[in-house]
Amino acid sequence: MERSAADNRTRRRRRLRPRLEKALEMTPGCAVLADVGCDHGQFSLAALESGRAKRVIASDISEASLQKAMRLFCGAGYDIEFRCCAGLSGCSEGEADCCALLGMGGELIASILESDIIKARAFRLIVMQPMRGEAELRHWLRENGFAIANEAVVRDDGRYYQLISARYAPDEVLPLPEWWPEGFFQFGVTALEKHESAMLPMMERYLSMMEKKLNKAAEKGAVPPLLQSERDGTLALIRRYKETIS
Ligand SMILES: C[S@@+](CC[C@H](N)C(=O)[O-])C[C@H]1O[C@@H](n2cnc3c(N)ncnc32)[C@H](O)[C@@H]1O
Repeated sequence: MERSAADNRTRRRRRLRPRLEKALEMTPGCAVLADVGCDHGQFSLAALESGRAKRVIASDISEASLQKAMRLFCGAGYDIEFRCCAGLSGCSEGEADCCALLGMGGELIASILESDIIKARAFRLIVMQPMRGEAELRHWLRENGFAIANEAVVRDDGRYYQLISARYAPDEVLPLPEWWPEGFFQFGVTALEKHESAMLPMMERYLSMMEKKLNKAAEKGAVPPLLQSERDGTLALIRRYKETIS
C-alpha cells in the first residue's frame, strides 16, 4: 500500500547523518530516484519520507546489503523496489529521472557511470558523495561532458565529505577559471566560489597532510612532483578563498 502525501507530511522524518542529509538537500524533487549502492536504505527512506522522490529503485551489488534495506522498509508502505545488481545494470534508460551514488569511492562512481554511459546521460541529475577519489571523479565528469550543477562540503563525525551533483550537458562544461591550479581536481570550483564554510578547514587539513607527506619524502631524499603540485594547488586555493571572502 502506498503512503499518501498527507501521511508523509504528518509523519516526522528521521534525521540522517550530515553527509546524507546534505545529499538529500541536493536532490531535486523527482518522480523516480535510483539509489545505487543503497546498503542500509536510509537515504531511500528519507527521500520518500521527505517527498523528494515519489518512487525509489534501491539497488545494491550485495544481497546482504539489500536485505538490510528491505528490513528498514518492512511495512513502511512506500513505493520502492529493491534490485540486486551492479551499478546501473538493473535500471533501464530513462526509468529513473535522478540518481544517487553515495558513500562509494570516486573511481567506482566514475566506473559505474562509464559502464552505462547512455543511462547515465539520461538522468536529470546525479547526486554523488565520494568517500575518496574526488579528483578522479571530477576529472572523469569533466572529460565526459557532465557539468557540475552544485557542490557542497560537510563535516560529519570529524571527517570532511565532498558532495557533487552533475548532469550530462557538454555545452555547460565551462573552462576552469584562469586562477585555478592546472590539472587540480581535489576540490571544486563551485564549492570554492560558494565559500562553503567547511571548505577552508577541509583544505587546511589536506594541506597539512600533503606537508607531512612531503617532509617524509624529503627525509628519504625524493620529493614526488605530484605531491608538490597537490600542496601548491591547495595553498593557492586557500589563498584565493581567503582573498575573496567578504
Ligand atoms: C559504504 S556503502 C554506502 C551506503 C549508502 N549509499 C550511504 O552512503 O550510506 C556502499 C554500498 O555500495 C555497494 N556497492 C559497491 N559496489 C557497487 C556496485 N558496483 N554497484 C552497486 N552497489 C555497489 C556496497 O555493497 C555497499 O552496500
